Amino acid sequence: MNCIRSVPPHIAALKPYEAGLTPEDVRERFGIENAIKLASNENPLGTSPKAIEFACRSLSDMARYPDSGLALRRRLADEFNTKLGNVIVGSGSEGIMANIVRTFLLDDDEILTTEAAFLGFQVLARGRGVHYRTVPYRNWTYDLPAIADAINDRTKLIYLANPNNPTGTYFTRSEFERFYAKVPDRVLIILDEAYFEYAAECPDFPDSMNYRFDNVITLRTFSKAYGLAAARVGYGFAHEDLITMLLKVKLSFEPSGASAAAALGALEDEAFLRMSVESNRTQLAYVSEALRALGHRVVPSAANFVMVVTETASQADRLFNDLLREGVIVRPLKATGIPNALRISIGIPEENRRLVSAVSTARIPVLASA
Ligand SMILES: Cc1ncc(COP(=O)(O)O)c(C=O)c1O
Repeated sequence: MNCIRSVPPHIAALKPYEAGLTPEDVRERFGIENAIKLASNENPLGTSPKAIEFACRSLSDMARYPDSGLALRRRLADEFNTKLGNVIVGSGSEGIMANIVRTFLLDDDEILTTEAAFLGFQVLARGRGVHYRTVPYRNWTYDLPAIADAINDRTKLIYLANPNNPTGTYFTRSEFERFYAKVPDRVLIILDEAYFEYAAECPDFPDSMNYRFDNVITLRTFSKAYGLAAARVGYGFAHEDLITMLLKVKLSFEPSGASAAAALGALEDEAFLRMSVESNRTQLAYVSEALRALGHRVVPSAANFVMVVTETASQADRLFNDLLREGVIVRPLKATGIPNALRISIGIPEENRRLVSAVSTARIPVLASA
C-alpha cells in the first residue's frame, strides 16, 4: 500500500499501545472469576461520588460543544492560587504532553530524559522523530547531575517525572535546585507530577508550584488520586506565554464536557482525595514491607505503585505469569525498558493481601542481595 510506505520511519518503528490484561481476559484465559488488576496505577477506591454526580448532571447538555475547559481552568487557578493564563487543561496529562512535543520541537532539536522513562512520554517523543537521548538511572532515581552534564546545544526539552513511573522514586528539593541551576533557560523542563498528591507528604519533595520558572511546565492529572482515569483530564501550570503557545495547538474541545464536569466535582470532594492518599500511605507500606519480607527487592516508592526488581528478565516473566494464574494482574516492564522488573499498583487491603499471598506461592527464588 503506497500510502503506508510513505509513513515516516520513526512512526512506522513504533508499536501500537497494548492495554494491559483485564480481569475479563483472565477469566477467559484461565477460567478465574475474580481476578484483580494492579497494573495501571489507578485509584483502587474508585471515583468520588461528587465527580460522578457532576458528570451525570453535565450529560443533559451533551448536544452542545463544551467550553474548551475554561470553567475547569478557572477553578484550578483558584484552587492553586494562580491566574487563568497560567493554567492549561487537556485530554489527560498525556494529551498536554503531546501538545508540548508538537509546539516546541523543531526537527533538529533533542529531547533528554532518563532511561526507561514513563512509556507514554517515550512514545510521544519517539513519534516526533527528533533525537531522543537518555541517561541511566542511579539507584533507580533520575541521575540529575548526569542529565545536566548531558545537555548540549541541541537540547530543547527535558522530561522529569517526579515521582517517577515506573520506579516510584522521587528526587528531592535540593537535588532539583542544584539541577535547575545548570539548565539554560532556552531548555524547557517538563515536571510531570502525575503522582503529586501521594508524594506531597514527603518533607523534601519539591512541589513544582514553588518553582514557577519561565522554562518549567508542571503537569498533573485527575487520573490517579482523583480516581478519574477513564475521564482523561490532565492539567498544567506554566508561564502565561508558554500556556498561550499550547492553547494554539490544543484541540478546541478537549477535555470533553462530561470529563471537565467530573474533574470539577472531584475538586469539590477533598475528603475523597484525603481518604485516597491515606489509604495509599498505609497500603504502600504494607505491600512494600510484605514483599521485602518474602525476599523481593522492592524499590522505595512515593507513588501508588511499587517496582519489584528481579535478578533476570525470565524471573520477572515467571513471576508475572505465576501471579496471573492466581488472578493477580500486574505490569511487566519490558516495553518500558526494564525487562527484569514488574510494576505493582497498590490496591485496597483485600487486594493487597491477595497479591502478597500470590507472591508467596510464586516459584521465583529469593534474591541473595535482597
Ligand atoms: C508519570 C506519568 N505521567 C503521566 C501519566 C498519564 O496520565 P494521564 O492519565 O493524565 O494522561 C501517567 C499515567 O500512568 C504517568 O505515570
